[in-house]
Amino acid sequence: MAGNKLYRETTMVNQTKIQHYQELSLQLSHVFEGEHDAIANMANFTSFLFYNLDRLNWAGFYLLRGNDLVLGPFQGKPACIRIAMGKGVCGTVAQARQTQIVPDVHAFPGHIPCDSASNSEIVIPILIDGELFGVLDLDSPDFSRFDEDDRQGLEKLLEIFIANCNLSRFSESMKSL
Ligand code: SME
Repeated sequence: MAGNKLYRETTMVNQTKIQHYQELSLQLSHVFEGEHDAIANMANFTSFLFYNLDRLNWAGFYLLRGNDLVLGPFQGKPACIRIAMGKGVCGTVAQARQTQIVPDVHAFPGHIPCDSASNSEIVIPILIDGELFGVLDLDSPDFSRFDEDDRQGLEKLLEIFIANCNLSRFSESMKSL
């Protein structure tokens, strides 16, 4: 990816949010460049989101390990490592398998604070063949940073990520650790 001339950070100047996500969707497959390594692609995906979406202070994965979510590749300050199923926004999303947009994290019962700068959050479940793989978590210092356009845009980007990784093999290999 580093030498890929097609990759550049995009901004939302003169673009709607939907147009910006459409452009990011086109760029994301160039970031993966045919590479299927799950850790490498998760790492680059979080960097891609962190540097192409405005007003973020954290973007990363929590991956299912047994009955817990465990911190995966991310961008931002060090975060809590292990989240039990049903706990916090991430554990709630993992259990319900439904995206949560949280306009004010301080009003979410059981929210787990990792970075005191976070005021809103979106968490999206990642399902592979109907099995929970983990969640994608984005935090913002702004209240109400995320909306329905973000949900749709991020879910589309996640589809591209999933199509470029062999996540079920990665999940199997992690079970033996
Ligand atoms: N706030 C999350 C924890 C993860 S951090 O935001 C990185 C939660 O309540 O699950």
